[in-house]
Amino acid sequence: MSESTQPHQQANNLWSSRMAFILAAAGSAVGLGNIWKFPYITGENGGGAFVLIYLACIFLIGVPVLIAETMIGRRGGQSPVATMRTLTKTEGTARGWRAIGWNGVIASFLVLSFYAVIGGWALVYIGKAATGLFTGADAEAIGGQFGGLLANPWELLMWHSVFMVIVVFIVGRGIRSGLEKAVNMLMPLLFVLLVAMVIYAMNSGSFGRAVSFMFSPDFSKLTTAGVLTALGHAAFTLSIGIGVLMAYGSYLPKTVNIARTAMTIAVVDTSVALLAGLAIFPLVFANGLEPGAGPGLIFVTLPLAFGQMSGGALFGTIFFALLLVAAITSAISMLEPVVEWLEEHKGVSRAKSAIGGGLAIWFIGIGTVLSFNVWESVHPLGFIPFFEGKTVFDLLDFLVSNLMMPLGGLAIALFAGWAMKRESLPADIGLQGSSYKAFMFVLRYLTPAGIAVVFLYNLL
Ligand code: PHE
Repeated sequence: MSESTQPHQQANNLWSSRMAFILAAAGSAVGLGNIWKFPYITGENGGGAFVLIYLACIFLIGVPVLIAETMIGRRGGQSPVATMRTLTKTEGTARGWRAIGWNGVIASFLVLSFYAVIGGWALVYIGKAATGLFTGADAEAIGGQFGGLLANPWELLMWHSVFMVIVVFIVGRGIRSGLEKAVNMLMPLLFVLLVAMVIYAMNSGSFGRAVSFMFSPDFSKLTTAGVLTALGHAAFTLSIGIGVLMAYGSYLPKTVNIARTAMTIAVVDTSVALLAGLAIFPLVFANGLEPGAGPGLIFVTLPLAFGQMSGGALFGTIFFALLLVAAITSAISMLEPVVEWLEEHKGVSRAKSAIGGGLAIWFIGIGTVLSFNVWESVHPLGFIPFFEGKTVFDLLDFLVSNLMMPLGGLAIALFAGWAMKRESLPADIGLQGSSYKAFMFVLRYLTPAGIAVVFLYNLL
């Protein structure tokens, strides 16, 4: 393919190194999904069996799609929509595959609308920790603080707005150089802090119980909907199926080995999630809290610990600040496909695209803000038994994480495995001989079959 059809593949535009791409893709992967969402959905779905299915989904479905999506992005070298349009031509495939690009742009748009609201919670909690609000507080007081935040739509809206402004500002200026530097230092620091939290949790007296909750599978606690949640979360946490890796892959130098890179990202991402679980569940059990408490889980357990440990105010402040950074590096990756699309298709400048896209996303986010208070008992699809009791936020999360991302992943696996020309695939992916064959077998058969089985079970 010539340079002119791959505008992102120009030398001055590329990631500066393999490491830079890993940091950006890991920055996208590691976020609220790992620290906020993974523990609470693990709690809601009964622990061990859910974790096992989630891990299987990561390596059987997540990693192959991560590889395929990045490879497609690099081949296309443009925004997800334009990349898919170009590739359907150059690969001589049906036009219908273009839906992958559109699915990505729409899903990125929707996911950021609720992600930014939760990002706002992290902002609030930096302030709470810094001003010593947790010090000596008991579970009830800490729960009350969280309940008070959710009950106040104006406060939620304000922090949602602040979060969106930060994201729009970074994306509007062009992401790569600044992002590389930020992620470089802060992500390893978050990792260290999580390890410190796990060590603290080890002494809480309930570490053994937490380990067996997370790692001894009891399949009687897992529903078919729970299996879909595990699959959806594997997609969510790796940021696959949504065009983000296609967008980031479009700037990836040809020399980088995608297979190895993808594995590194998956291992880092999974370790962060498991560490978060190991930090949180001991505190949940030691304090007699409910593992299935829902989206507030980390905001009611971690502050308790920060309130009891010495130096907890400082430690808590740093922790929530790093959580914010992790959320921001994910959020900017969500805005990227939307901005690239506006730039390429509507001819709008990057700054204006970021502001326009950001405003629209901010507006949709109000639905999530209200889901926790004024619209708490509004259940738009409540007449369907499966969606009973689900708020606007729950539905958006379900639509993006459990439908659009895994189905986008399915389409990507099928496109790369069956529709694309084979000749240059081994070199593009970075695998040879038997490992290439094994990978293609997984991508062509096991990955699609895995996703299909989960969906069929949920439909029947
Ligand atoms: N992977 C991110 C997280 O775990 C969320 C995300 C979803 C990022 C979709 C980009 C796209 O927090």
